[in-house]
Amino acid sequence: MKVLVTGGAGFIGSNFCYYMLEKYPDYQLVCLDKLTYAGNLSTLSRALKNKRFTFEKGDIADKKFVDGLFTRHKFDYVINFAAESHVDRSIENPQVFLVTNIIGTQVLMDACRANGNIRFHQVSTDEVYGDLPLDRPDLLFTEQTPIHTSSPYSSSKAGADLLVQAYHRTFNLPVTISRCSNNYGPYHFPEKLIPLMISRALANQSLPVYGDGKNVRDWLYVDDHCSAVDLIVHQGTVGEVYNVGGHNEMTNLDIVKLILAQLNKPESLITFVSDRKGHDLRYAIDPSKIHAQLGWLPKIKFKDGIKMTIEWYLNNKKWWQEIISGAYKNYYDTMYKNK
Ligand code: NAD
Ligand code: DAU
Repeated sequence: MKVLVTGGAGFIGSNFCYYMLEKYPDYQLVCLDKLTYAGNLSTLSRALKNKRFTFEKGDIADKKFVDGLFTRHKFDYVINFAAESHVDRSIENPQVFLVTNIIGTQVLMDACRANGNIRFHQVSTDEVYGDLPLDRPDLLFTEQTPIHTSSPYSSSKAGADLLVQAYHRTFNLPVTISRCSNNYGPYHFPEKLIPLMISRALANQSLPVYGDGKNVRDWLYVDDHCSAVDLIVHQGTVGEVYNVGGHNEMTNLDIVKLILAQLNKPESLITFVSDRKGHDLRYAIDPSKIHAQLGWLPKIKFKDGIKMTIEWYLNNKKWWQEIISGAYKNYYDTMYKNK
């Protein structure tokens, strides 16, 4: 089997590449990544030593490049992790979100159609459902919850989801979609809440909590997301959407306090700053469909996952310190200048 993983130099895509290389010793993986600010080739350094792994630098929205890639490789599955993924950046500059997240998805699906109707999986997000009220803990997102987005990021992901479903109905492309809650774990880019707070707390810098810190996110360890995508791609029903989450809702403030406690740092580092525009109040996934149909359950409990994650950031300071310093941007040039 040959699998195209897009966005594999990012947080979840890289964890997925490692997961697949280990789980399927006979699979070939091709990783397509544009290496935007969020893509980091050093994240894939172990994979790059594996003969079953190939890295291709390119843009999913570049039709000529993508068509050429599909001519050079015969893929059995295409799994699309590539995206502009940060809500705050989408508020500053929406356009690149529309190009990558919507046009990029269309270009990939057209290539799947043109090359024998290749099975296509879209990695989507719970943010397409909008948010839930804080005072209704009984409400959860199901696959039937209407799409109702808040940010340019979530709107672009919702647009892509609608397009994926349209390609199934109109062209009979064999597609699946997963909508997962917030992930955490190794290689999480240090602009996102958990790694940002770990790296800033270690440097004794202030920890910027938006608004009153009472917004709720539903956290899942990244390997559990990888196992869900793997199951959906191999055993999921074509045309279907699967929600992925582990019933682990926490306020942002509780997360930040927990990180401070684990690092033995004072809560006085917490600084309340102005709120994110359009800030979603609460996300909460109902994962009963993927459990009932595919038998998926998360393996990592939050109390263990967060310890493992903090440990990882303590043991891999070079990785995130180079990102913060900008040095990683030179990594690709150094690695590939003579190739
Ligand atoms: P990330 O920002 O860490 O990584 C995105 C990767 O995509 C980077 O390597 C980047 O270089 C690459 N990329 C961006 N634009 C590209 C383009 N035009 N062509 C090729 N590559 C491009 O993101 P992540 O957090 O790993 O998220 C991966 C996917 O999972 C996204 O689709 C996101 O919407 C979805 N998702 C993320 C979470 C989460 O908590 N992080 C939760 C649910 C769903
Ligand atoms: O729910 C899935 C989504 O989770 C994914 O689709 C997105 O790609 C991913 O980035 C993530 O989105 P969030 O906006 O939930 O994640 P972020 O880490 O940016 O923020 C988490 C919460 O923490 C949110 O309520 C905003 C808050 N926050 C964030 C930052 C960066 C702060 O209070 N301070 C901060 O500095």
